[in-house]
Amino acid sequence: MRTYAFHIRLKRDGEWCDAVAGGIWWNPGASSGNGSGEHRYPIKVIQRVLNKPGGTAQFIMRPVMGRFLCLGEEKSMKRMLSGIKPTGQLHLGNYIGALSKFVSYQDEYEMIAFIANLHCITVPQDPEELQRNLRDCVALYLACGLDPKKSTIFLQTDVKEHAQLGYIMCCHTYMGELNRMTQFKDKQAHGEKNLSGGLYTYPALMAADILIYDPDYVPVGEDQKQHVELTRDVAIRMNNRYGNLFKVPEPLIPKVGARVMSLSDPSKKMSKSDATNKGCIYLLDDLKTARKKVMSAKTDSLNQIKFDPENQPGVANLMQILSSLSDNRPMADIEAEFAGKGYGDLKRAVADKVCAELEMIQGRYNEIIASSMIEDVLKEGAEKARAMAQPKLANIQRAIGMEII
Ligand code: AMP
Ligand code: TRP
Repeated sequence: MRTYAFHIRLKRDGEWCDAVAGGIWWNPGASSGNGSGEHRYPIKVIQRVLNKPGGTAQFIMRPVMGRFLCLGEEKSMKRMLSGIKPTGQLHLGNYIGALSKFVSYQDEYEMIAFIANLHCITVPQDPEELQRNLRDCVALYLACGLDPKKSTIFLQTDVKEHAQLGYIMCCHTYMGELNRMTQFKDKQAHGEKNLSGGLYTYPALMAADILIYDPDYVPVGEDQKQHVELTRDVAIRMNNRYGNLFKVPEPLIPKVGARVMSLSDPSKKMSKSDATNKGCIYLLDDLKTARKKVMSAKTDSLNQIKFDPENQPGVANLMQILSSLSDNRPMADIEAEFAGKGYGDLKRAVADKVCAELEMIQGRYNEIIASSMIEDVLKEGAEKARAMAQPKLANIQRAIGMEII
């Protein structure tokens, strides 16, 4: 018998409510959630905590230290993992394509969200700026709504197993596969000099980041799909060679907002490496600047508000931003609202939505950055992540035959 502290969510009459129950006793050896007497005991404890006895509550118990126990009607939660590489300031594309999705998934899935700082140094970084970007990234994860009680949030380098498994993955990835990765090919095609070996082998490290936690899903924007597919190939290869080592994860690409385009050049994706900065809205842009960027977004001379990414990429991009920030409002709905109206009206509506979202995020960001929350969250997150990664790496090395003791 061992003691654990749980964060608990209860569904009662269709409504979720939060509760925390510490020191629940149960027998870890029998924790399959099959409704035996042993499992009913914690339910009683929870009901006492909430002072709402009886009834038909559904229980999801969130684990501390990677342990998970599920009771009642709700069956086991699927696991999800993703990361962001803060080589610069986070922007609206990161928010719409990735971060806001992590937040909405954290209630239904066991979410692992890390900051990919090893991936940052695949391109040259200024140490002070990198430090700032990393802190900002954690603060923005939290400000955008990631909740450390529900999600495991940590810095990649605080869990050394990522780097070690990264090397092992590198040895199981073919050069031909790495040569096909478009991110590396694009940089090469742009004639960038002195590209690092780390940039070339980065997809193998990304495979390690994922596979070490056996997630079911990997939510990412469109540009990362190829890397998740490579991860699947390597997982299948290693499973065939060594026995069932890894769960083979699925990429999860949002239907709307998987590729937010630059406002100044809608043929390119919105990106931190936007040289002019005009096409990219950063989450920490002041509201006036953000509004100005939207109002001067490139459109076309067709003067009609239709969702037609091929012929009207600028307008379609604005509509995609508006839809994503309004609970994926259907495009037909937006078209109907703006029928007969001009691009100025559409831009104003987008600017209002973007500014309202930024204002909310920045308000929380300012509170978080002034507190000691970042350190506390990272420390706790790293402990939880290590508890999953350490035994997994040991298993993998044993299966490969690398371990003696
Ligand atoms: P990165 O900034 O490259 O580390 O990307 C972090 C996450 O944001 C990944 O899931 C990307 O796919 C996603 N992302 C980056 N840029 C965009 C964009 N312009 N539109 C949608 N998603 C994006
Ligand atoms: N490569 C991702 C990006 O540039 C960041 C990343 C690193 C990642 N490891 C990951 C994303 C694992 C998902 C899962 O955006």
